[in-house]
Amino acid sequence: MNALEVKHLYFKYENDWVLEDINFSLKDKEFMAIIGPNGGGKTTLLKIILGFLKPTKGEVLIYNKNPLENRHLIGYVPQYTNFSLDVPITVFDIVLQGRIKKGKFFYSKEDKKIALETLERLNLLEFKDRKIKDLSGGQRQKVLIARALATNPKILIMDEPTSAIDMKGQKEILNLIESLKITRVVVSHDIKILLRKVDKIAYIHKKAVVHEGPKLNIPKDVHFCEIELIDFLKVENVGTDTK
Ligand SMILES: Nc1ncnc2c1ncn2[C@@H]1O[C@H](COP(=O)(O)OP(=O)(O)OP(=O)(O)O)[C@@H](O)[C@H]1O
Ligand SMILES: [Mg+2]
Repeated sequence: MNALEVKHLYFKYENDWVLEDINFSLKDKEFMAIIGPNGGGKTTLLKIILGFLKPTKGEVLIYNKNPLENRHLIGYVPQYTNFSLDVPITVFDIVLQGRIKKGKFFYSKEDKKIALETLERLNLLEFKDRKIKDLSGGQRQKVLIARALATNPKILIMDEPTSAIDMKGQKEILNLIESLKITRVVVSHDIKILLRKVDKIAYIHKKAVVHEGPKLNIPKDVHFCEIELIDFLKVENVGTDTK
């Protein structure tokens, strides 16, 4: 059974198609990178996969079910974080939120243990009792990743997880994502993500061009030219900034 299936998906907010005939599937533990220009429809696609938006036509299946039915299997790190920095919530509390379940009103010892282990895994333990407002942007981003992982998801969906993060932090996060043995979908403007062990690449600009990883054969250690890569993928210019 596929972890994720997108079949003849079309979507429009108002009059114009934002997504047109998107098709791909991901097996368990596969890693897909999604690239594409601003306004191309990447975040919209993720929101449909998460069940926040309904397809105008076509369908999305999460382990063969409607996204709303299997939403609990997905951990999500949104593109923009809009939690209020005025609320004096700690890093630990944010990660614990990943353990919230419907109809459950308290956290168990197990929940707290998982939250602590996740913080440790992301080297965030030292910030555990820090208010979220007293962290840097990159550290906050890592806390959100920790919260998504604390849900123990089968599928992890991340929208620009490294956009506010320095080179060292980016590498750390990409190493972590690469090492996870779950299905991953990562939207990124930084096409260096394609140098990672991705199984599939989708270039989304209203329509999708999907590349299968093994055929990519991008040399890892030699000269890497983003322009050549873009040419190879037969896509338009995506963010080629080498932050
Ligand atoms: N709530 C909305 N109502 C109407 N149009 C919207 C809405 N949200 C997004 N759009 C439009 O849909 C298109 C796709 O937007 P989306 O956010 O999915 O792009 P994106 O690929 O994630 O872009 P970016 O790389 O800038 O994050 C854009 O033209 C955008 O203006
Ligand atoms: Mg977006």
